[in-house]
Amino acid sequence: MKKVLALVMAAMMALSLVACGGSDSSAAGDSAVNSVVDGVSSAVPAGGTVGICIYKFDDNFMTTYRNKLEEILTGKGYEVSIVDGNNDQAKQTEQIQTFITQGVDALIINPVMTSAAEQIVTMVKDAGVPTVLINREPTEGEMAVYDKIAYVGCDAAQSGTYQGELILETENKGDINGDGKVSYIMIQGDPENVDAKLRTEYSVKALEDAGVEVEELDMQRGDWDQEKGQTITANALAQFGDQVEVVFCNNDAMAMGALEAIKAAGRTVNEDIYLVGVDALDAALDAVAAGEMTGTVLNDADAQAQKAVEVMEALLSGTTYTAEEQQIYVNYVKVTPDNVSEFMAG
Ligand code: BGC
Repeated sequence: MKKVLALVMAAMMALSLVACGGSDSSAAGDSAVNSVVDGVSSAVPAGGTVGICIYKFDDNFMTTYRNKLEEILTGKGYEVSIVDGNNDQAKQTEQIQTFITQGVDALIINPVMTSAAEQIVTMVKDAGVPTVLINREPTEGEMAVYDKIAYVGCDAAQSGTYQGELILETENKGDINGDGKVSYIMIQGDPENVDAKLRTEYSVKALEDAGVEVEELDMQRGDWDQEKGQTITANALAQFGDQVEVVFCNNDAMAMGALEAIKAAGRTVNEDIYLVGVDALDAALDAVAAGEMTGTVLNDADAQAQKAVEVMEALLSGTTYTAEEQQIYVNYVKVTPDNVSEFMAG
């Protein structure tokens, strides 16, 4: 309601107001108005242009995320342009340069390579474009040189810990065959990405911290991809058979692939094998509700998109961020059969 009011006010009061942070004043509706968003007073730009770079469109989670970003921004009257980096950093770097040349008011960037963060920060800093990095967290200190940039994401360690807890909460704490240890396979996302590293580390650490002995049968990179998740799981089940008690997947897309392989091998989730993912994609929520997945972890695309836009608007209205403030996290939520209905549409 407050936001609707703010927009109406913006339309009515138009033009006597402060110009927003963009370098190109030809951008449509390049004005701002002071208003109140979620209880925080800020200058909300009434329109303006936003360039969004996604690492690749062909990623289930980032598709939900980018659709939400687009919905929120266009709903607020921004002119939005979203480009597909095709998982190619050189291509994305060019796209960022093109947006800068076009004079966008703000950028939202989901880097292809975390290791490119430094270069990206330099580019947007030199051009003075307010920028929000999303989903792929730069290493500490890389944003510190520019006070009009921030990262919006989640604390990947938390999602790993929750995955481990999902296994600890089963009746036998993951030790289905009662041999005193939990034998697992780990299907990793792209290991260049901190989400993959920390989910891998912290899921197992949660078991160890609880005093549970673990045995890694196999660890393979599935690059966040469903088909790879299926192939890796099929191979591991063929090789290790009943020894596999837990399949940890760094995301739900790979877990959906793993589920196919589990079924094809004649195994039954929650009876003779456990399966966990991260994201809470619709398909995974259905699987949790149907008892075909032990659990997942909500990677809240909606809340992250909201937060990214909020931070972008703060930057546009002149807010600057110190190094200590540049990491902005949204919480993960554990999803089990008990609470899954809360996350399902309708
Ligand atoms: C999500 C994955 C997604 C990746 C893209 C992760 O946070 O859990 O599903 O593929 O981000 O960077």
